[in-house]
Amino acid sequence: MAKKQPTIMDKLVSLTKRRGFIFQSSEIYGGINSCYDYGPLGVELKKNIKELWWKSMVYERADVEGIDASILMHPRVWEASGHVEGFTDPLVDCKNCKMRWRADQIDLEKGCPNCGGELTEPRMFNLMFKTFMGPVEDDAHVVYLRPETAQGIYVNFHNVRESMRKKVPFGIAQIGKAFRNEITPGNFIFRTREFEQMEMQYFVKPGTDEEWFEYWKEERFKWYDRLGINKDKLRFHQHGPDELAHYAKAAFDIEYEFPFGWSEIEGIHNRTDFDLSRHQEYSGKDLRYYDQEADEKYIPYVVETSTGVDRLMLTTLVDAYTEEEDRVVLRFKPYLAPIKAAVLPLVKRDGMPEIARKIEADLRKRFKVFYDEGGSIGRRYRRQDEIGTPYCITVDSQTLEDGTVTIRERDSMEQIRIDKSRVLEYISERVMP
Ligand code: GAP
Repeated sequence: MAKKQPTIMDKLVSLTKRRGFIFQSSEIYGGINSCYDYGPLGVELKKNIKELWWKSMVYERADVEGIDASILMHPRVWEASGHVEGFTDPLVDCKNCKMRWRADQIDLEKGCPNCGGELTEPRMFNLMFKTFMGPVEDDAHVVYLRPETAQGIYVNFHNVRESMRKKVPFGIAQIGKAFRNEITPGNFIFRTREFEQMEMQYFVKPGTDEEWFEYWKEERFKWYDRLGINKDKLRFHQHGPDELAHYAKAAFDIEYEFPFGWSEIEGIHNRTDFDLSRHQEYSGKDLRYYDQEADEKYIPYVVETSTGVDRLMLTTLVDAYTEEEDRVVLRFKPYLAPIKAAVLPLVKRDGMPEIARKIEADLRKRFKVFYDEGGSIGRRYRRQDEIGTPYCITVDSQTLEDGTVTIRERDSMEQIRIDKSRVLEYISERVMP
């Protein structure tokens, strides 16, 4: 029988493990379904994606502030938000092979997608992880792991507004972990039960929400260019009435064409005044905003932008992955690359390692760099290409004569010579977002 060819996803899973990006969680115990650990290179890629988002959503804008709210919140938050009642998926079990499915993602008429067996009637399953605060495990002590970071923003709306003297319209951004007891996690880090979100809630005057919704839709779509994603692989998907979340009046997903099909990477939602109104009702606190100019009080409407860090990692990895005749390259934007430069003495003698170590120490003050003196230069370049390192600096015999080094660029493989004193400046100019 012909051997099954590995898919792009198979190759990526293998590369990311072999080269220290992503490991199965608790692997020595056989792993735990849908949980992953980010290794030395994965954690850098993740940090770079978050920094780019934070820079464009918070630092570059005068109208958005950041926060970092706690994961555990008062349980009433989740009653007010509608998650206790409505954050559910319909679950069916196969009576034959016992596999579980989301009823809304399969053709129930055809039976179990795995074995064709008879399915149970759909039952609603709440996706929130429940635990207990303190030593007593009873209903009075139930708390939830947040299924979205957004609620930490709503409950802090007035704290941020007052402390930062903000006027509507303004936004609050947050990056943090979220948890969902997904029925069908999968596709590597695409859908997991523990993940990180980057969310921004933009508070606007009622009646201006549709305009702001359009604005944020366009802004967020454009942002993927900064992330370096091929725009032919991006599209919008508008939610139909049966897809809309319980809080949304309108929603668009930004989708990416993964090897397993077009799938959501970000949602832009018009959440109206749903969340703040509900928190006002459940907390008994006045959450209205006093608009001095119009001399009126209202509950602001919210336009939300919400994306997942892990999902964007998968997007950047898939999009950057390129197989060429004799090499595999991760063509990340330089500022996303986990390692910005590799310093390579051509041989391990004649004072080359000493010069290379000095260059490495100099670069290390600013970036994550890698020093490698083992193996042929061609193999060392290939190893850096495979992890997306944009620049390789080689110290060779000419360096000993005139103090210049070669800089090899990853994508074009072109090499130039510059004076070794200019290396830090040269790399810095090219790897900043
Ligand atoms: N606050 C709105 C909200 O959470 P969502 O569409 O459910 O909306 C937003 O999620 C984003 O969070 C998604 O576009 C995706 O990038 C990420 N996300 C959601 N569930 C995820 C999961 N199980 N695993 C990884 N990322 C997830």
